[in-house]
Amino acid sequence: MSIHGDRILVTGGAGFIGSHLVDLLVDAGARVRVLDDLSAGKLDNLKEVRGDIEFINGSIRDAGTVNNAVAGCRLVFNFAANADVPRSVEHPDLDFFTNSVGAYNVLAAARKHGVERTLQASTAAVYGEPVYTPMDEGHPLRPISPYGASKLGAESLGLAWHHTYEFSFTAVRIFNTYGPRQPRYVIHDLFRKLQRNPRQLEVLGTGEQVRDYCYVSDTAGAFLALALNPKADGQAYNIAGGQPVSIRELVAMILDTLGYTNTEVTYTGKSWPGDITRLVADITKITAQGFAPRINLSEGLLRFADWIQP
Ligand SMILES: NC(=O)c1ccc[n+]([C@@H]2O[C@H](COP(=O)([O-])OP(=O)(O)OC[C@H]3O[C@@H](n4cnc5c(N)ncnc54)[C@H](O)[C@@H]3O)[C@@H](O)[C@H]2O)c1
Repeated sequence: MSIHGDRILVTGGAGFIGSHLVDLLVDAGARVRVLDDLSAGKLDNLKEVRGDIEFINGSIRDAGTVNNAVAGCRLVFNFAANADVPRSVEHPDLDFFTNSVGAYNVLAAARKHGVERTLQASTAAVYGEPVYTPMDEGHPLRPISPYGASKLGAESLGLAWHHTYEFSFTAVRIFNTYGPRQPRYVIHDLFRKLQRNPRQLEVLGTGEQVRDYCYVSDTAGAFLALALNPKADGQAYNIAGGQPVSIRELVAMILDTLGYTNTEVTYTGKSWPGDITRLVADITKITAQGFAPRINLSEGLLRFADWIQP
């Protein structure tokens, strides 16, 4: 199915993952509109496509702005959010009003304008502490952070509207995504610390936390594929790399990527409120729809290293 010439909205499109989706959509010939308040995203993330897209500097909290941005769009991808989990612990209002109420504004406008499909960037944080791993989409939804709760609000509304109004909607529960333009989180932070001091590395936590990293172009590609897949309507999917590693293993891979052999690594042992020990996805459901991660962790870390230290 072609999207050539179609108007498509990406909220949060100046952010890390959203900007990679914008790149894919522009490559596919879509007329892309980005709505972003630049609270975390950067125009720099869009510099290669700036002349090809329409950019609206505005907030999804503002229903009127959202209504204008959604008008005329075939597809809507809602990536706009406070995506900083530790910050959500300090400012739960930010998450509620942006991630839940803002998402409501996007859904309401999409319904009003008869958008063909709305996709919500959701998160593994909607599951909370794992009852079992790997977690499939049927795992209990018991978020333990304000961030997870606010994102569950957004995807629950969309899925409920699918049943109530035959509203076309897909939720994509992103596990940890990494890659160029990432502004925060473990892989980014470890590279930055090593840039400052290649001889010593202090790592937050015990090193035993397990994560399931997905390279950003694979995550963005999955959103586009699901948007065009009729079977994905009314569904929630996990998206992850399918190659879980402990932070200790990740640290070793990063040191290997950089060719550092004499770095002294220490672990603080302490973590932060809302952190989850083992975050591993069952990706059978999305794989059955044709998803296969193309960039494995070793290759992705090489690409990330090229970006962060050109
Ligand atoms: N990065 C990950 O590993 C990950 C994991 C799970 C879920 N997600 C979800 O994916 C989406 C994108 O995350 P990201 O990592 O690219 O984060 P990001 O912070 O880079 O992107 C979020 C974007 O939304 C924008 N934004 C924030 N509030 C806004 C508002 N009120 N109105 C308009 N724009 C607003 C920011 O300026 C930013 O450009 C988020 O919805 C996040 O919850 C990301």
